[in-house]
Amino acid sequence: MAPGLEPRGSRILLTGASSGIGAALAVRLASEGAVLGLVGRNEQRLAATLAAVREHSPESRMWPVDLSDWGQVDVLAATAITELGGVDVLVNNAGIPKHKHVTALTPETADEVMRINYSSPVRLTLRLLPHMVERGSGRIVMVSSVAATLSSPGEGAYDASKAALSVFAEAMAIDVWDLGLRVNIVYPGVVDTPLFLVPDNDPLSPDIEKIPVDEFVDGMMAALYADELQVYVPAWFEGVAKNKAQNVGAFLEGSVNWMRQQREAGHA
Ligand SMILES: NC(=O)c1ccc[n+]([C@@H]2O[C@H](COP(=O)([O-])OP(=O)(O)OC[C@H]3O[C@@H](n4cnc5c(N)ncnc54)[C@H](OP(=O)(O)O)[C@@H]3O)[C@@H](O)[C@H]2O)c1
Repeated sequence: MAPGLEPRGSRILLTGASSGIGAALAVRLASEGAVLGLVGRNEQRLAATLAAVREHSPESRMWPVDLSDWGQVDVLAATAITELGGVDVLVNNAGIPKHKHVTALTPETADEVMRINYSSPVRLTLRLLPHMVERGSGRIVMVSSVAATLSSPGEGAYDASKAALSVFAEAMAIDVWDLGLRVNIVYPGVVDTPLFLVPDNDPLSPDIEKIPVDEFVDGMMAALYADELQVYVPAWFEGVAKNKAQNVGAFLEGSVNWMRQQREAGHA
């Protein structure tokens, strides 16, 4: 089996590092010896992550970038290669939620979600791929979502953007297998981060339990060390996804019933 993630000495470009999963992951990777290139829009919060990262990894740096702007994405890829001295690992973690009933969804919103959650990580990946292929090594980690496989209700635009990202990554994994590159697709369950505070989203049902972000990072790191192609954290979500695949109709009907209960309880 190919060796899994080796943070020590690796130069890792990590998007979405100004908050939540990305901020916690950045500190963990730095504490294990990686040099980080941190990306996010909010300069102040990105600087806070960088300060924590630099306690372990003084060479790490940050680039405030809006990843929905293609010019900025292209410049980021080139800058990261030059200023980090190469990119060994790309972690496409930045993303936005969209929890909104389909009858309240506009085409513009659906496009925006696809742009940030799918087109942007694909663009950054394609800009860095020639560099990795030339060196015959590299790792691309895509942070997808269990929503990609479970068709979470009220999240059609989000589910589709993450499903597209996952399928792109699976096909890419085949293409790059013999070129010395590795791909990991991470499926977070429900993780306690500021994602659920992003405006213009319906609130999360209080019946849904979130796991602490450090617990999520523990699970994600263990799976990356083991070089698992698909990483579900918590792991039991993989069983739910397999269940759905066996009988999609029954799974969707179960979701309808759950949504009815949620409405009756005033949670949806
Ligand atoms: N939390 C969960 O339960 C959960 C579940 C499944 C999947 N995920 C996925 O995990 C990833 C991280 O989410 P999180 O929970 O850590 O959420 P979060 O705390 O809201 O963090 C999202 C990150 O993405 C960045 N981002 C969003 N739009 C951007 C843009 N246009 N340009 C640059 N950066 C942008 C944000 O940067 P700024 O704030 O600086 O703009 C922030 O650093 C996302 O892809 C999310 O879909 C999360």
